[in-house]
Amino acid sequence: MVRVFLLPYPVSRTKCFPDLSMEPRIRIETEMDQAAIRDINVTAFGSETEADLVEDLRTEGYARLSLVAEINDVLTGHVLFSTMSIKGEYGAVDALALAPLAVRPEWQRRGIGSRLVEDGLEQCRKAGCQIVLVVGHPKFYGRLGFSAKLAEAIASPYSGETFMAQGLSPDALRGVKGTAQYPQPFSLL
Ligand SMILES: CC(C)(COP(=O)(O)OP(=O)(O)OC[C@H]1O[C@@H](n2cnc3c(N)ncnc32)[C@H](O)[C@@H]1OP(=O)(O)O)[C@@H](O)C(=O)NCCC(=O)NCCS
Repeated sequence: MVRVFLLPYPVSRTKCFPDLSMEPRIRIETEMDQAAIRDINVTAFGSETEADLVEDLRTEGYARLSLVAEINDVLTGHVLFSTMSIKGEYGAVDALALAPLAVRPEWQRRGIGSRLVEDGLEQCRKAGCQIVLVVGHPKFYGRLGFSAKLAEAIASPYSGETFMAQGLSPDALRGVKGTAQYPQPFSLL
């Protein structure tokens, strides 16, 4: 006689055998996602630093938009946009810092990071945000509309080819000149 044992809980097939062709669902984080978001950042960066940054930005009220990528109930990626400003001679202009962005190593190079950034930028645009700053790989972020040239007039501790800006409306960056004021938790990086 063949005996069949049923597990007392459902087993997600993707947890055992990831279906790498699946499209991620991008959604806003919930409180229940926070441990998984920490784990995504630790495994993607190989250190606690970015995971701590996410938690500090969240706790201190700077987190503006936090998105996760979900595939069959498994969280595979995360991106955070936080409030910051660009302080110029005539006052400050609001902006968002895109950081960190992380995709679980086994899910990388399948478009998940790009989807998180694209969906995030669209939601920021709809919310009326005008400028997004990022520090990262020029090839990756260049494909997503960021440019170091657009950030040239913005002084930052991260200035250089990896420091990039994107305007979310045609004239968003016109005449913007000043110093990037990052939220305090960034100083711990
Ligand atoms: C960078 C990262 C978020 C990209 O996410 P992803 O889902 O793999 O990216 P996508 O599949 O949408 O796009 C792939 C592109 O990302 C870039 N990319 C991915 N991994 C990269 C790496 N280790 N180094 C440099 N660029 C990388 C490449 O441009 C790649 O394009 P290619 O395959 O044509 O070379 C992901 O690799 C990651 O979490 N890395 C570790 C953490 C990190 O560096 N975060 C970014 C901080 S700015």
